[in-house]
Amino acid sequence: MKHFDFLILGSGIAGLSYALKVAPHGRVAIVTKKNRAESNTNYAQGGIASVTSKEDSFELHVRDTLEAGAGLCKETVVRIIVEEGPARIQELIELGMKFSEREAPSEDGGKELDLGREGGHSKRRILHAKDVTGREIERALLTAIARQPNIEIFENHIAIDLITSQKLGYVGENRCHGAYVFDKNGNRVFGFIAPVTLLATGGCGKVYLYTTNPDIATGDGVAMAYRAGASIANMEFIQFHPTCLYHPKAKSFLISEAVRGEGGVLKTLEGKEFMDAHHPLKSLAPRDVVARAIDSEMKKTGADCVFLDITHKPARFIIERFPNIYQTCLSYGIDITKEPIPVVPAAHYQCGGVATNVDGETGIAGLYAVGEVASTGLHGANRLASNSLLEAVVCAHRAAIKILAAPVSKTDIRIPFWQSGNAINADEMVVVSHNWDEIRRLMWDYVGIVRTNKRLQRAQKRLANLQEEIHEYYWNFIVSADLLELRNIATVAELIVRCALMRPESRGLNYNLDFPGLNADWSQRDSMVQKLI
Ligand code: FAD
Ligand code: SIN
Repeated sequence: MKHFDFLILGSGIAGLSYALKVAPHGRVAIVTKKNRAESNTNYAQGGIASVTSKEDSFELHVRDTLEAGAGLCKETVVRIIVEEGPARIQELIELGMKFSEREAPSEDGGKELDLGREGGHSKRRILHAKDVTGREIERALLTAIARQPNIEIFENHIAIDLITSQKLGYVGENRCHGAYVFDKNGNRVFGFIAPVTLLATGGCGKVYLYTTNPDIATGDGVAMAYRAGASIANMEFIQFHPTCLYHPKAKSFLISEAVRGEGGVLKTLEGKEFMDAHHPLKSLAPRDVVARAIDSEMKKTGADCVFLDITHKPARFIIERFPNIYQTCLSYGIDITKEPIPVVPAAHYQCGGVATNVDGETGIAGLYAVGEVASTGLHGANRLASNSLLEAVVCAHRAAIKILAAPVSKTDIRIPFWQSGNAINADEMVVVSHNWDEIRRLMWDYVGIVRTNKRLQRAQKRLANLQEEIHEYYWNFIVSADLLELRNIATVAELIVRCALMRPESRGLNYNLDFPGLNADWSQRDSMVQKLI
């Protein structure tokens, strides 16, 4: 057993920025699955949306967020996050974050923040570090963390399950006391015990066959919280990014929406623009509209992909503004200054998650959730581009304030050691990898951009069988990262399907051909699921 004052699961923007706030008040453990920088945050390209220019206003940012969210955002939450954004951005800059700048138009020759544009934003308001914003955020936060003696980072450690009073058989308030954690290198399971645990485990892109997310994104936080009895909200709203690079050798490489923000245009193989038939904002329409339009174009023509063309811009501008995208595409033989980029939609962002308020509080005492794992009400039925890094940094700050205002004393209840199965059978590992593939493929085929009830029900049946099989393996076999993640993607897949079947309408990212319109009864309703324990 390892004891701390603050336990943090995850080392993306949410976990790291919260760690820096609580570190002066006690010993902090950050548990993270792979190396410390490996996270969705690390791959963020476009940037952070926040109001910093005179031409912009909180009111406009709120309006754009509400519009993208298709009626389901919680307006009070939206206002808080939008209005507190600039202060958090300033803190990031003070920590050493270097955002891209440009020459100020005034005569004094100074510099100002360069603001990018993305779909659904009525103003330029995206602060970015060229096209590698997330890498720069992780660098800045991890550098600041390294200066904090109170913070210990446990890399290659994967949280298995939360330790809660209810699971231990206590009656009364359900309280979280930490988590069981698998040390992948040492092949051991530890109990990490703390009065407060922050879930900052990010999203679940790996539930789908095609995704922009790195391998860490297996929905562990949602699955763990669900098993612990927390409410999970709005999981049907999975955002598909319209433009993931289409190339047999490229795994999950995103072509930022900022490319369309700077004039990139979507075209068919024949070079014909097609977005004007779908939305007045054409290629810069909100993400759900663009992803559906591409999906429909590909189905109509039988093409494997569509194309994003920015060749009309000067080569120097493209290389300077998008150095990572330029170099990566070039490594696959595509010179984006001279030829259009083949792209397809891919699962990108989980708009729902563990139900929390804007301070990250879940329904379980001592358990907070911040970042992509959480559902605060900011995104509603469709996240506005670049609002997720903003949400994570604002809510991490608010969670820290809330927690520090009412410290919880350490538990004196006895936490048992982890009990594991001990069977090892190399032949059976093929079943684990087969089940991984099957879940990801069936989610892509049956629970993708366009849904029907029949396909959702088919997915639900298959998932129930798979879960039975996984359950059996889980308890008999020795713990492994693959098996832990498999159990989690199966749980999250099931929650996505259940939420999608609950909602009898097409709203934002949940597009169901059996219910093509909006349903007024669901205009303010979250789809909620909770395990009875
Ligand atoms: P993450 O950054 O994903 O961090 C999760 C952490 O939890 C990781 O350290 C992971 O290893 C760890 N973890 C997970 N499970 C476990 C476990 N069981 N045990 C231990 N550790 C665990 N959003 C924007 O606002 N702007 C953008 O420009 C933007 N671009 C994006 C580009 C790409 C390619 C992707 C994939 C996403 C992008 N997003 C963007 C979304 C945004 O990056 C994420 O929503 C955000 O970074 C999530 O931060 P987080 O801290 O919640 O989670
Ligand atoms: C992008 O750069 O297109 C990603 C932005 C986001 O997901 O918010």
